[in-house]
Amino acid sequence: MDKVLSGIRPTGFLHLGNYFGALRNFIKMQQENDCYFFIADYHSLTTHPTPTDLRSNVKNVLIDYLAAGLDPEKATIYIQSDLPEVCELSLLLSMNVYVGELQRVSSFKEKVRRQPNNVNAGLLSYPILMAADILVHRADKVPVGKDQEQHLEMTRDFAQRFNHIYGVDYFKLPVAYNFGQELVKIPGLDGSTKMSKSDNENSCVYLSDTPEVIKKKVMKAVTDSGPTEPNQPKPQAIENLFALMRAVSAPETVQFFEGEYNECRIRYGDMKKQLAADMTAFIAPIHERIMELRSNDEYLRKVIRNGAERAHASAAPTVRDVREIIGIKPL
Ligand code: ADP
Ligand code: TRP
Repeated sequence: MDKVLSGIRPTGFLHLGNYFGALRNFIKMQQENDCYFFIADYHSLTTHPTPTDLRSNVKNVLIDYLAAGLDPEKATIYIQSDLPEVCELSLLLSMNVYVGELQRVSSFKEKVRRQPNNVNAGLLSYPILMAADILVHRADKVPVGKDQEQHLEMTRDFAQRFNHIYGVDYFKLPVAYNFGQELVKIPGLDGSTKMSKSDNENSCVYLSDTPEVIKKKVMKAVTDSGPTEPNQPKPQAIENLFALMRAVSAPETVQFFEGEYNECRIRYGDMKKQLAADMTAFIAPIHERIMELRSNDEYLRKVIRNGAERAHASAAPTVRDVREIIGIKPL
């Protein structure tokens, strides 16, 4: 069975874009693979969140993932900072990584532009820590979006370099987990092509939103005055509403509103009411689980304790071997 690993940034509540773009694939992946999912709290320190934000973000992300269907019986779910082996491997790897190659990483250059007053060493070494996350479990596959491809490539470079320097065939080279055509992009409610909390909070419908909030957000979604001629292509904001409907509504519902649009009879108010109702119904079971989990700290603690133990069992032998290969041995 392939070992598949993914890091989840603790950014707080998850929205429908995260669900269809990432979470849903994780839920499928855990059926067929030996999956490791961890919340990358060390990585989030590179942007200096306040301690209370960090803590609540880790908890909220954990809850949303569990509520949506990540199964701690099937996958190993843990928090990065519960696995100190990652720090040791990261340090050991760093000795064979060059400052120049880190300075050329696109995500680093982007951060330098975005937070010029906080260009900390953690940002520079971000790809080393990420490589350690992956290599510590000797994972085969890593599901990554476009923005993370370069990091994965560096992980392969570091692994290969380690093998080469020490003349061993120890680390295997992890590859991207390919979802093929299942990759979807969920648009925002603000007319933008991507639902994203970093771009615009108002574009997002969260898995933890109540029916009232969902309705309010959807009713405010950007539209126009409607088509004036039959069978015209749709402007972006309208296409977005249809794309959201395709994600959560029954095919007949989508077909009905397509027909209304093409015949210039569409009433966006009716369409939005329907979309809000279908989103609410789609989210309802997840929402219910979120509410349950929020008041069940004992269960959450059990999940992460268990996850940390399993992650440790997978990581400890790697660090032991690497120490040995490097020459850190008892005298
Ligand atoms: P945000 O853009 O809201 O900050 P993140 O970057 O934290 O979201 O997203 C985490 C993961 O969720 C991404 O790697 C991507 O796979 C997925 N994702 C986020 N937004 C969308 C979207 N609108 N459509 C599809 N997938 C998305
Ligand atoms: N850098 C990833 C992101 O921003 C999160 C992450 C950290 C990760 N370590 C990882 C992803 C290891 C995959 C594997 O989304």
